[in-house]
Amino acid sequence: MKKNVAEIIDVCNEIYNKGLVSGKAGNVSARFGDVVAITPTLKSLSQLNEEDIVLVNMEGNVLTKGKPSSEVNMHLGIYKKRSDVNAIVHTHSPYATGFAFSDKKLKRLEGFGEIKNPYLPFIEYEKPGTDELAKSAAEGIGDDDVLILKNHGVICVGDDLKEAMLLAVFVEESAKTQFNTLMLNSVEELD
Ligand code: 13P
Repeated sequence: MKKNVAEIIDVCNEIYNKGLVSGKAGNVSARFGDVVAITPTLKSLSQLNEEDIVLVNMEGNVLTKGKPSSEVNMHLGIYKKRSDVNAIVHTHSPYATGFAFSDKKLKRLEGFGEIKNPYLPFIEYEKPGTDELAKSAAEGIGDDDVLILKNHGVICVGDDLKEAMLLAVFVEESAKTQFNTLMLNSVEELD
């Protein structure tokens, strides 16, 4: 378990350093059998130590010290629906979240596995940390590996932490590409 907790911290540092989360935003979890290890609430993902990671069971009971992410029920809801998912990375990465705050949909670009939907699935806004968001996210992700949370951020899931993190990076880069395309299409040709 120590090695697994260390991997969560590595992923947190990587997504922070890549600018996918800032301030105290975002949360990361991984499932190990009947236990989920998750980042604590209200702490920067750039400043976590192993003892900060909180273990919970599938009913959400806290098994260690500390307070889990306020989105713990959203993570648990997805794990309960998806036996193929063992890791979840939730970011507020700026380009993808910019789309989430706009009326523009994000296309699923080539470059990361099967394209199940031409556009990334999204759910309507629910208040962060609520049971409503947890329920809507677990239903909204279906069998996809990404979900856009309207006016909030992005969820990426995977078989393991590396996969979920790589996908979070890919989604942000895809959003950047689409942002650039929209900008270029909106300007007049230069003489
Ligand atoms: P937590 O600090 O409770 O994980 O909340 C951060 C966040 O990004 C909520 O969506």
